Amino acid sequence: MPATQTTVIKNGTIVTHDLTVRADVLVAGGVIAAIGPNLSGDHVIDATGCLIMPGGIDPHTHLEMPFMGTFSADDFESGTRAALAGGTTMVVDFALPDPGQSLMDALAVWSNKSARAHCDYSFHMAVTWWGQRVFDEMEQVAAAGITSFKHFMAYKGSLMVNDDEMFASFRRIADLGGLAMIHAENGDIVAEMAAKLLAAGTTGPEGHAYSRPAQVEGEATNRAIMIADMAGVPLYIVHTSCEESHEAIRRARQAGKRVWGEPLIQHLVLDETEYFHPDWDHAARRVMSPPFRNKAHQDSLWAGLAAGSLSCVATDHCAFTTAQKRFGLGDFTKIPNGTGGLEDRLPVLWTCGVGTGRLTPNEFVAVTSTNIAKILNCYPRKGAVAVGSDADLIIWDPEAEKTISAAGHQSNSDFNVFEGMKVRGLPRYTLSRGVVAFADGKVTAPEGHGAFVPRKGTTPVNTALQAWKELTNPRPVVRSGLPVTGV
Ligand code: URP
Ligand code: ZN
Ligand code: ZN
Ligand code: ZN
Repeated sequence: MPATQTTVIKNGTIVTHDLTVRADVLVAGGVIAAIGPNLSGDHVIDATGCLIMPGGIDPHTHLEMPFMGTFSADDFESGTRAALAGGTTMVVDFALPDPGQSLMDALAVWSNKSARAHCDYSFHMAVTWWGQRVFDEMEQVAAAGITSFKHFMAYKGSLMVNDDEMFASFRRIADLGGLAMIHAENGDIVAEMAAKLLAAGTTGPEGHAYSRPAQVEGEATNRAIMIADMAGVPLYIVHTSCEESHEAIRRARQAGKRVWGEPLIQHLVLDETEYFHPDWDHAARRVMSPPFRNKAHQDSLWAGLAAGSLSCVATDHCAFTTAQKRFGLGDFTKIPNGTGGLEDRLPVLWTCGVGTGRLTPNEFVAVTSTNIAKILNCYPRKGAVAVGSDADLIIWDPEAEKTISAAGHQSNSDFNVFEGMKVRGLPRYTLSRGVVAFADGKVTAPEGHGAFVPRKGTTPVNTALQAWKELTNPRPVVRSGLPVTGV
């Protein structure tokens, strides 16, 4: 379709995070040009029986990630293809500098990787080591539109940073008006527990779960929140998987701290029994950090999404093949950590959330798109159905059904952790900046269609937090004179 032509979406119901309304949507030049009754355009998309929602934003992916001696199996090509097929129109991936590597060099590597993306994307920058060079370059990274910085409290010996490094980094992020992000698990304890389990003969995937109990996540979450509070920086905690971590986030938010928690779709619906499956491959394919938890933890996460104490549902899409998972035969610490989910996040969340009454359709939009667009400061360009917003839209058929299977999925992985799950609620069309990017079961946006979405720092949250910290900063007591001593 020529860029000058317009498209109108008719007969659908618009669902945003705060509104449900029947109206047509006119798309021109890649953005939403009008919303209202009886609109007309050069092309018509019929949304009869469908909901028109903002495209999903997945704030947590690892495409072509170098990790644990290999690379994750989905790159920006297959990963963003999977995203569009599942109604996600933007992914945010992590640029990962090697120890000692320049942040700007790492960014150049990730920009290169993303050239074939089918949908829009942005980056977070990982702080994997600390030094003057990192401190200096963080400003350039922020100026390049990457204002969120991720820290790993786990993966000792590779990605992990220590408390003093985190504190220094968090203070720098506060000064730059950015967002601190955390993978919260106590890496020292995990490493000790894993070594002990291996020595005692537990070599299978169940050892992965035993070595990373909820307490190690809860402790790290509390610690990260304290460090962020001392540094005066907003904090986003990725893959919140348990009540211990959720409780820390809930308490921080009630105390007025600027903290957000992100459950994954995997943790919401898959549980720890997967690691005790008699088939090694089945269990190893589900190894990720943090591990899946029990039903009580899942209930806590669902409740947090409804209550607003947890904000976003992501995937942490980091797919591996069975052959890669088998690197850990005989030693669970060598099983590459990660699972896929990009194509399945929205259908599974709709089925298990909206389909059961745990979430309203508006809450679904909030936790899959709008909340993260606000947190990452790309709202209302993304995450909205509003005049002037990018026309990243899903035409969602709440009655459409399928059974999830690796046989038909877009991912390069040879398995799917949701294999056999029947979902009800699927995208009929996905639009990316006005282009029909998925239709009739096929991804139609060309490779390279995806564009980088730069983001600015110094959000209203940064400004408010800085003002509050300035007001409540410790101040020296001004005394009129010193006591006379030696009299
Ligand atoms: O197991 C996981 N989550 N793999 C991806 C890297 C990370 O920790 O997010
Ligand atoms: Zn992580
Ligand atoms: Zn991750
Ligand atoms: Zn392609």
